[in-house]
Amino acid sequence: MSRQPRPGALYLCPADSLDEGRARGFDPYGEGRDTVLVARWQGRLHAWLNRCPHLDVAMQYRKDRFMSGDGQHIVCFAHGALFRPDSGLCVLGPCLGQSLQGRELVIDDDSAVWLVNVPQAACTL
Ligand code: FES
Repeated sequence: MSRQPRPGALYLCPADSLDEGRARGFDPYGEGRDTVLVARWQGRLHAWLNRCPHLDVAMQYRKDRFMSGDGQHIVCFAHGALFRPDSGLCVLGPCLGQSLQGRELVIDDDSAVWLVNVPQAACTL
């Protein structure tokens, strides 16, 4: 299946590769690290910058380990902050009441997941 480039968008993955209660990291800006995470929660996909509002650090403890064991929260493994996967709101931890920074996704007719509104320079990588 070919992927048609979309202006201002970067292809991430097939939607069915993202399991319920799990998240994956992506490097859409070519920085050599996962700067965006996509979580599936209650059937819907949500994208967030991988930066904790507490100390502005990456949140996973190893590749693609962003979620709590029960799949109900995104976790910052630095100090244990818990975030709602749908709103990005911190509901427990040192950044209580602050939120992750969201990113916009589109799922196309081929069930491909695209990160949209990406700076054009990143789209040429
Ligand atoms: S850096 Fe994320 S909870 Fe402290």
